[in-house]
Amino acid sequence: MATRSVRAEEIERELESLLTRETFPPPEEFRRRALIRDDTPWREAQADPVAWWERQARALLDWSEPWQRALDDSNPPFYRWFVGGRLNACENALDRHVRAGRGDRVAFYWRGEEGEERQVTYAQLLHDAERLATVLRERGIGPGDVVGIYLPMIPEVVVAMLACSRIGAPHNVVFGGFSVEALRDRLHFSEAKALICVDGARRKGKTVAVKAAVDRILDELPSLGTVICVRHTGEGAPMRRGRDIWWHEALAGAGPTPPEPLDAEHPLFVLYTSGSTAKPKGVLHTTGGYLTGVAWTQRHVFDLHDDDVYWCTADVGWVTGHSYIVYGPLVCGATSVMYEGAPDYPDKDIWWEICERYGVTIFYTAPTAIRTCIKWGVEYPLRHDLSSLRLLGSVGEPINPKAWLWYWRVIGGGRCPIVDTWWQTETGHILISPLPGVTTLKPGSATRPLPGVDAAVVDDAGREVAPGEQGYLVLRRPWPGMLRTLYKDPDRFVETYFSRFGRETYFVGDAARLDEDGYFWVVGRVDDVVNVSGHRLSTAEVESAIVAHPKVAEAAVIGQADERTGQAICAFVTVEAGVEPDERLAEEIRQGVAERIGKLARPARIIWANELPKTRSGKIMRRLLRDIAEGRALGDVTTLRDPEVIAQLETKVRELQ
Ligand code: WTA
Repeated sequence: MATRSVRAEEIERELESLLTRETFPPPEEFRRRALIRDDTPWREAQADPVAWWERQARALLDWSEPWQRALDDSNPPFYRWFVGGRLNACENALDRHVRAGRGDRVAFYWRGEEGEERQVTYAQLLHDAERLATVLRERGIGPGDVVGIYLPMIPEVVVAMLACSRIGAPHNVVFGGFSVEALRDRLHFSEAKALICVDGARRKGKTVAVKAAVDRILDELPSLGTVICVRHTGEGAPMRRGRDIWWHEALAGAGPTPPEPLDAEHPLFVLYTSGSTAKPKGVLHTTGGYLTGVAWTQRHVFDLHDDDVYWCTADVGWVTGHSYIVYGPLVCGATSVMYEGAPDYPDKDIWWEICERYGVTIFYTAPTAIRTCIKWGVEYPLRHDLSSLRLLGSVGEPINPKAWLWYWRVIGGGRCPIVDTWWQTETGHILISPLPGVTTLKPGSATRPLPGVDAAVVDDAGREVAPGEQGYLVLRRPWPGMLRTLYKDPDRFVETYFSRFGRETYFVGDAARLDEDGYFWVVGRVDDVVNVSGHRLSTAEVESAIVAHPKVAEAAVIGQADERTGQAICAFVTVEAGVEPDERLAEEIRQGVAERIGKLARPARIIWANELPKTRSGKIMRRLLRDIAEGRALGDVTTLRDPEVIAQLETKVRELQ
């Protein structure tokens, strides 16, 4: 123990001195083996971006039919890529590797919460996916029919997604941390015909009955005629005749279904994400372009070699899981780790134990996780041999330099480059990121746009701002993996992303700065989206869950800066006349939010307000609330209807501190 704390102290001293170091060129040893070692891809893509993407699509994917036109940009922002080409996502992820004699390769080292292990090969995934595809077909699911997926981190979730793509049924995966009411809304919006779920899920030694909970909402979804239930915890689940079937029973009796060659623009999945209104946005991705972008970035941003063991700690319910746990790694034929449990169960060193046990070489996580590990202390990673690691990645929110340096030194042993990857649900794949064999890193910056990507920082009028100045991040050229529309809502698609700066400039919703070297520094969201532990939540959605409480009159939700989670949800709430707000009401409100959205959206802080600050036209001034909550000097308040409101709130916030 004593030697360990000496080491910990040494590391802490070293971290102090690192704080002044600004640049980190690729280590020579890493560079020598890297797939990309110079700026050739940037130069080639610059010369002809569309032709460059075409070469990647050909090199990385198997097509059953070549495309006639690489990019149809005749009707922006409705771009189409690889027009006329045909392919199948599942075939690219599984069949072709098995055909090439690589069926015995491990696709996933799966690790259960209680330490159980499963090695799942490409051949096994294919065996199950081609049978589940048959089951879905027999239940009348065909191309274009949406299938909901509500599963924990078990190999079946991969099989479920790929079985859908095998028959051209877009999947709609809903994060297991969302409540069944949130699930109901997403299934309803996407008009899902089937749902794949689980009997029960495990979390830190406890089990939750999932199927029984799901049953509560199924009656409200008349178009959903099939439920396929995976037996996982052995809870036992209520099964309704004619509608519900057990996964293992159905698969046992099914033969294989071949992959359906689909149009490059065939919808691959819908994934709901938060926007500035309460209604989540159904981001739609299609097949050919999405897979091209995901495969290229998986291979080159992560410098993926045949002998790598790759681990992305995200959940498949988020886009990071879609692109960099399922499609990216499998299309590239990678060997990955998949872990069911929490990072602190049974103890806070479980991630590092897993890295050691499976010899993880590439590790991809979120800044919030790193900050939590910092809080827990270096003792936990120091318990394990992490020398197999050679590359680290970060995603989901800006990484503060202190967390970056800790990650680099403590986890990466000072030898692993960190790829800080900027992208969104909508972009489909990474767009701004270092290439680890080439790019000199600066802690806190996602560095530069990848080859073929045209990003800029502009002012209100759409003019590029000078280095050092903050502006809006925009993307000025279509890229293959971009969302094609919002599901069943093309007007909202145009309005949200392509109205502010015209139909050919994608409005990201992030604020950013460029530095003198052309490096991008993403600051955070400019819309009413809160980023809690890398999870995107809409303030409007949380507000509507809060005002659903009968004693609440009005609510305004903001993201408040938080050292560990990036942002935390802070709710200003006014109550109905005659109601005396107290801790019990606060608890009821939190519980209501957990039921309507999920535990992750519960407000960390509830501030009772007599009134909310509004403009004369009646809009809640959230910016002002953020300043109040974070104790900042208030800017211009002249547009405020009733300045008295502010003084009252400031007093309340001070009282709470
Ligand atoms: C933020 C997650 C800074 C950003 C893949 C973006 C980041 C939103 C980074 C998308 C990064 C993601 N640096 N900010 N490396 N990566 N973000 O849709 O605000 O869940 O708009 O996709 O996360 O979140 P989403």
